[in-house]
Formats: sequence, C-alpha cells, structure tokens
Amino acid sequence: MKREFVIAGNWKMYKTGAEARELVLALAGSFAAVRGLTVVVFPPFTALESVRGLDPKVRIGAQNVFYEEQGAFTGEVAPRMLAGLAEYVLVGHSERRQVFHESDADVARKLRAALAAGLKPVLCLGETLPERESNATLSKVDGQLDAALAGVSGPEWGSVLVAYEPIWAIGTGRTATPQQAQEVHRHLRLRLEAMAPSRRVPILYGGSVKPENSLDLLSQEDIDGLLVGGASLKAESFSAIINSGSQLLRS
Ligand code: 13P
Repeated sequence: MKREFVIAGNWKMYKTGAEARELVLALAGSFAAVRGLTVVVFPPFTALESVRGLDPKVRIGAQNVFYEEQGAFTGEVAPRMLAGLAEYVLVGHSERRQVFHESDADVARKLRAALAAGLKPVLCLGETLPERESNATLSKVDGQLDAALAGVSGPEWGSVLVAYEPIWAIGTGRTATPQQAQEVHRHLRLRLEAMAPSRRVPILYGGSVKPENSLDLLSQEDIDGLLVGGASLKAESFSAIINSGSQLLRS
C-alpha cells in the first residue's frame, strides 16, 4: 500500500561503543533489506566510530550538532566533525529543547549548519500536554516548523526529515493514537507541501512506539516512519518494529 518508510532508533544516553556495535550487528542480522525501507540508528557521539561501516542496512545518525564550524565551544561537536561518521542528525529533540534550553533560533541554526555540511537533519517537534489540552497543538508545531525551516530552499528539501514527537508521549508509555498522530501529520504535510511543492518530506512519528502499536501507526496515510526511543535499545523489539514496516511495504 505504501511507498517508503524510515524507521529510526534514538539511543539517547545509552550504549557504550562496544554495546552499540553489538546492537547494530544484532539488528542487521534481524531484518532483510526491503525496497523503500531505511533503518537509521542514532547512537551517542562516543559510539559513532565503533559502528562506522558495520552494515549498509543500518544507517547512522548523530543525536545533536553545534552550528559553529570550530572554536572555543567546550563540549560541542561541529558538523564537519561528523563527516564519515553520521549521515543523519537529530535537531531540536524535545530533550534538547527542555533540558538544554535550545530555542527555535538555535534549532534553525543547527539545521542550516547540518545541511551545509551535507548531513540530513531530522527536525523534531511536538507539543506538551497542557498545550494539547488547550488546543494549542497545531499552533505549537507550526511555529516550530516555520522557525526551523524558513531558510531551506531548492534541493536542500531532499535532505530534510521531520519527526512529530508529542512530549506527553515520550518515555511515558502513553502513545498518541494513530488518529491523533495522523491528524497532526496531515496538518504538517499540507504545510510542508506549501513550503516545498512537489517534494514529499518524510514525517516520522515518535513517542512510546512499541512492536504492539507500530503497524497501526505506520498504516496511517501521512506517517512515513517512526522515531523510536526505549524500544530501539533491544534488537528484538526494534527489529519487530522494523519488520512491521517491511510487512506493509510488501503488502
Ligand atoms: P520513547 O520511544 O522512549 O518514548 O522515546 C521517543 C523519543 O524521544 C525518540 O526520539
């Protein structure tokens, strides 16, 4: 029924280099390459070298990047330092926004710097529970989308991905229903189409994705993939999620 899926695992602050290597190898052995299926994992910076080039079926991304090219920025990593180590990079994850106080302006600069360095940014956005309960979901995600993507143009659109991650669904076990997710994805789709006509920017869903709900989520028309946290840390659960994507692509 469907075209293409990106199934991504955000490993957050879990996994040493050795553990990451073991997990990538286990994952690679647990699913078959299928046309239209892209699998990406986002290990911590310190594990990127350990997973480099392990298996072409498992693409690699970084969880963060700074926007300056170099300089006195203790603890930060420049886009060009990721060359050869990461193909994708997360920008604006809600944990970066909330715990590390990244603003929409910071996220926009990171996204631009990532594109300039040839990385594929995955722009994360989503609302808090009070925002959802006060019907502010769509205005929140619109603001985040517009702020981050205002400067993107032409062929750059081919490298951009968006991940809708309602904050109330992250790490809580409380997943958005497929209908709730689809509603926001549809809204984002129309807005992205207005920004980038003739492109289908992939829109992933994230927030308590598990093997039990991945098929229903991916069955929604405007859900082009998943960004999985906790359930991506074990080969068994992550490969079950990946295989729900393969199943839909084959059907
Ligand atoms: P969980 O799947 O653990 O809810 O995390 C989602 C997430 O933040 C992915 O980026």
